[in-house]
Amino acid sequence: MCGITAYFGEKNGIPIVLEGLKRLEYRGYDSAGIAFLNNNTIEIIKTKGKIQELKSLVSDKNSNIVIGHTRWATHGEPNYINAHPHLSMDKSIAIIHNGIIENHSELKRELKEKYNFKFESDTDSEIIAQLIQYFYQGDFEDAFRKMLTKIEGAFGIVAIHKDHKQMICARKGSPLVLGVNSNEIFIGSDPSPFIEHTKDAIYLNEKQMAIIEKNSYKIKDFNGFNTQSEIETIPFGIESIQKQGFEHFMLKEIYEQAETIQNCFRGKVNHIENISIKINNPNRIILIACGTSYYAALVGKYLIEKTSHIPVIVEQASEFRYRQPMLFTSDLIIALSQSGETADTLEAIKLSKKLGCNIAGIVNVTGSSIAKECNQGIYLHAGPEIGVASTKAFTSQIVALNLLNLFLNKNPYYKLEMIEELKKLPDKVKEFLEHQEILKIAEEFKDSKYFLFLGRDINYPVALEGALKLKEISYNPAEGHPAGEMKHGPIALIDSTTPVIVILTKDNVYEKVISNMHEVKARKGKIICICDEINNEIKELSTHIIQVPKTSWEFSPIINAIPIQLFAYYIAKLNNREIDQPRNLAKAVTVE
Ligand code: M6R
Repeated sequence: MCGITAYFGEKNGIPIVLEGLKRLEYRGYDSAGIAFLNNNTIEIIKTKGKIQELKSLVSDKNSNIVIGHTRWATHGEPNYINAHPHLSMDKSIAIIHNGIIENHSELKRELKEKYNFKFESDTDSEIIAQLIQYFYQGDFEDAFRKMLTKIEGAFGIVAIHKDHKQMICARKGSPLVLGVNSNEIFIGSDPSPFIEHTKDAIYLNEKQMAIIEKNSYKIKDFNGFNTQSEIETIPFGIESIQKQGFEHFMLKEIYEQAETIQNCFRGKVNHIENISIKINNPNRIILIACGTSYYAALVGKYLIEKTSHIPVIVEQASEFRYRQPMLFTSDLIIALSQSGETADTLEAIKLSKKLGCNIAGIVNVTGSSIAKECNQGIYLHAGPEIGVASTKAFTSQIVALNLLNLFLNKNPYYKLEMIEELKKLPDKVKEFLEHQEILKIAEEFKDSKYFLFLGRDINYPVALEGALKLKEISYNPAEGHPAGEMKHGPIALIDSTTPVIVILTKDNVYEKVISNMHEVKARKGKIICICDEINNEIKELSTHIIQVPKTSWEFSPIINAIPIQLFAYYIAKLNNREIDQPRNLAKAVTVE
């Protein structure tokens, strides 16, 4: 989704903001622009193209008050006019915005009809600059605050005024972080744009604004009262947001998983009782998420119901929030989110809170909106995930769900056994990654027109995730199904050209999956079997075998996820796709 970055200080902020925008590219965007103060005028430079193009347009410019934006189109097509920053009609104010102003049409109509305002773009965002102009009577902060009383929806906004050495930003529903340094302040949708300049950050809370002036900043509520702000240290360094020799962030993040799995359980595994979720023997657990996080949540259902005997319901946030869900105050609601900013998940959690439920989060990004809203839960500590296709967050979410399960479980022997197995997992992941040869298999199937992923039981969600990964980055049609459902429909798609990726683990459904493989083989499908042991029957049934290290049933989705991630990666690479920023997708979906 849209990315925001800004600089207020003593240096030339233009290269700093451009570099910041480059760092925000991972969020997905279709146009970009900057605005800066130049002797009481505001200059704007934008492009429908990439940041590289923007750089070539601003090479000789200089300003120490600069705002920058990458736009992911929602209202109005991606073109030059709709790109941010937007100016007020009199060109005195420039704004950048992430989110959606829901009542922009009414406000626009009013300003046009009653006050003769002229609008240039089709965006919902332009209304922000126009409203500030409408309210302005010499006091920028006052006009900005009056504008806030009019707009409805979600927003992270940064604004500058040509006659004020001030930068004002505000947050409601879309994240904003301030980077604080001596003599300079940075703003970002997340800390990545300014991480090499400062690790001291203030995450704005809901309905907070910041007024930045030379050598000072104030954090206020929307009524203008000073509020408390805490400076936090960003828990990762610049290396986390660099490729470090890998061709793509996605590949780097796949290869980081031995470490990220360990980071997720480190410090918790020997003190499971210290997990910070207040639970009161919930009658039900409801896991809410979107996309890959939803598939991780499905793993959680198999896990918790089978081993801790608590009913678990898994909900797609976008559906959950718009029906009238039957919730009880005895329910424990857990939101899963890598970014912590997914709008549907955030709203689903707010709804559950309103209905009196106990809510918690399993979140990667510290200080994110979902983390703040839940105020209890488990952080993944996987570090920034830059590739739009989620990989390391998925495996860490399954680790976190296992930690949650151990926290809920009453059997001390089970806990000990699982902890021992979990500790061995990072080495197994590392060993697999060092020896895998999935590229060779991908070469054979790079031109296939359709891919089918099959799994059962706790590995069924891995089949879903495999299909999602492949669709997202290679744009190939792919489906995931429970292997047992295949004969109820998907089997009609299988012929001698169809690659069928089967997840086969030595567990309670092993024989059932073997039978399903026979069904595929009888239709001449090409089986790529991901399994934890090899025998003659598997050899006869499969065109290719990917052997993964053995682990317990509980952790098998983690080890099985890695080959499906690599398979998707190599198919996309062999098709020359834009792997880290696939078309139409955004990293954090902060709008509905
Ligand atoms: O940040 P979240 O985990 O809340 O994001 C949820 C989905 O948008 C996300 O998993 C999406 O499906 C990814 N592109 C998957 O690779």
